[in-house]
Amino acid sequence: MNIDLIKVSMKEDMAKKETDFKYIMRLDSELNHIQDFDLLLERILFEARKVVHADAGSIYVTAPSDNPDVDGPEKLSIKYSQNDTIQKTLAPGEKMIYSIFSVAINEKSISGYCGLTKKLINIPDMYNIPEDAPYSFYSSFDRLTGYKTTSSLTIPLLSTEERLMGVIQVLNATDSAGNVVPFSADDEVLITHFATNAAITLQRAYITRAMILRMIKMSELRDPKETGTHVNRVAGYAVEIYDRWAFHHNVPKEEQEKFKDILKISSMLHDVGKVAISDAILKKPARFTPEEFQIMQNHTVYGAGLFNDTHSTVDLLAMEIAMTHHENWDGTGYPGWLDPVSGHALRTDAEGKPLGRKGEEIPLGGRIVAIADVFDALCSKRVYKEPWSEEQVLEEMRKLSGTKFDPELIDIFFEILPRIKHTQSMYPETA
Ligand SMILES: [Fe+2]
Ligand SMILES: [Fe+2]
Repeated sequence: MNIDLIKVSMKEDMAKKETDFKYIMRLDSELNHIQDFDLLLERILFEARKVVHADAGSIYVTAPSDNPDVDGPEKLSIKYSQNDTIQKTLAPGEKMIYSIFSVAINEKSISGYCGLTKKLINIPDMYNIPEDAPYSFYSSFDRLTGYKTTSSLTIPLLSTEERLMGVIQVLNATDSAGNVVPFSADDEVLITHFATNAAITLQRAYITRAMILRMIKMSELRDPKETGTHVNRVAGYAVEIYDRWAFHHNVPKEEQEKFKDILKISSMLHDVGKVAISDAILKKPARFTPEEFQIMQNHTVYGAGLFNDTHSTVDLLAMEIAMTHHENWDGTGYPGWLDPVSGHALRTDAEGKPLGRKGEEIPLGGRIVAIADVFDALCSKRVYKEPWSEEQVLEEMRKLSGTKFDPELIDIFFEILPRIKHTQSMYPETA
């Protein structure tokens, strides 16, 4: 190669690096706008793969270990897996379903070893790991799917105090011709820079989430039926339903992401107004009398009132969902057209009673959470009932289409049932 050609290629290389770094810097500010912890994890994985042109990858977060005496206090739990090759085989709008598992933070697995040493691991060929390496590659995913994992880059997500928050593993770097190649030294630099900043945004989202979970814990202390896993599942179902709705309605990707982010947080808070309901009613271990039910219905208005004084998009959506998640499509739900501040009726019938909201008068968030909330309640054990069988639950959901629920959203619910069940498995009932 002559000297001019070398100069040109060096210049191109420098320009590419500059673009890559500029992209990462722009990403930092974008990631900072995502408020929900889970959605942020999903986006971090997506962007990490993009930064180093990886075909696939997974993101893990630290969680309390099941067997602390043997495995240490923490484990790594998988949160998201993405795989472009497998994704291409699915129908449009469909998402890949992956198994939910955890690994111990020890030398046995690659991600576990990365978590243990807090160091980046770059493996050019997973089927040719040096014999003296302490870890081994679990090829069960490849065997199950026919996918061929070759190169991998595994990197820890560390907090500003160097605490392990999670691990990102990206797989199969691809060159411009689409060939799978090893991850380069430049990729190592790029992903390290990216992961440092991603970890900071994660830490911030984690604090927000912890605050919300505390709010939910407060209502849980008052109402033992509303457990943390219930709200996590409801929020998870809500996001999945919206995702498919947005796909059908051609909602621009950016708008979708923003709405999903605030929907997740807002739906977790759907019943937070129950803190204002008296213990005698809330903790009654049986069905409510009509009078008690009347009082209980006020949790919608109390909840909405909690988000009334500020006007961020999260507050507005949380207010809407708290207020309308018990409204029925046919107008028979509650609390009807009420003002969340004064509690006064906004629209009344001939007798002065508030009119029920019906059809699309009920905001989309409220219509979605109604489905997610009822589905989860039917699947769960309550003091006054055992969980229903899957068949019974699905029959009931179908039956209520067009009366209680938005028929379009019920169709979507059935369309994405495998994803709904996947979400259910992510947040099992603990007690
Ligand atoms: Fe409710
Ligand atoms: Fe609920």
